[in-house]
Amino acid sequence: MKIIVTIKDLSNQLNTIRESGKSVGFVPTMGALHSGHLALIKRCVAENDVCVVSIFVNPTQFNDQNDLLNYPRSLQADCELLKKSGCRLVFAPEAEEIYPEPDTRQFDFGQLDQVMEGRFRPGHFNGVAQVVSKLFDIVQPDRAYFGEKDFQQLAIIREMVKQLNDTVEIIPCPIVREPDGLAMSSRNARLSAAERAEAPVIYRTLSGSVALKRSLSVEALKQWVADRIDASPLLRVEYFEIVDGLTLQPIEEWADSGCPVGCIAVFCGAIRLIDNMKYE
Ligand code: PAF
Repeated sequence: MKIIVTIKDLSNQLNTIRESGKSVGFVPTMGALHSGHLALIKRCVAENDVCVVSIFVNPTQFNDQNDLLNYPRSLQADCELLKKSGCRLVFAPEAEEIYPEPDTRQFDFGQLDQVMEGRFRPGHFNGVAQVVSKLFDIVQPDRAYFGEKDFQQLAIIREMVKQLNDTVEIIPCPIVREPDGLAMSSRNARLSAAERAEAPVIYRTLSGSVALKRSLSVEALKQWVADRIDASPLLRVEYFEIVDGLTLQPIEEWADSGCPVGCIAVFCGAIRLIDNMKYE
């Protein structure tokens, strides 16, 4: 496994790989790797000749500077994990390598980024699109792997690929959960012991709500979920929306969507967690 920090070195490596007709799979990450990332990498390794993983805490997608400063960074431990994962190339650039000049591009995702994360984290998805489009330009992968925990991000990336006429195939991968149901996230490491013990209430409530689809209206089910989670003194729901899984627009009736998804953001103490649940 090679750890590469410049675009030039990575391009040289990838040119040789492509000249020999090998396929390239790509897993973009911000590091602090956990089993959720490793599941993406495992699939990438299985489906491609060469797996490239990037580790880059992208400053342009943080609308809160404290969040950027506190984002967990563990490059050495990440590389140890990656060595055992089958990943061939790790791209771990400094910010100046990716942004020698400020990226002023403004993407237009229509209604897709006007709701949920887009509403509560203004500019977040523009920053995600800036970095992912740059990384796709650099790596030119055949396939790229994204977790469904970031459900809205996945929709934005698909839309971005469409708008840029990129040929990369976007592969969605199911949420990986801790044994108690908490969706794996690099942010989980920042939870106190008490917060960590309480955080699985989010998943328990979401999964408990699935059966209620038959008896409750969309509005009543949303209220049920929010009330149960807010009942915990350590948890505060920022939003819970039930949206169409393709358009991401909130639905009013169950019949409004063939693939409704409940998407939630919850503050657990000061740590913001997201999760989602399909109501199919
Ligand atoms: O999902 C993430 O970790 C990030 O948003 C991504 C896709 C690596 C872009 O920085």
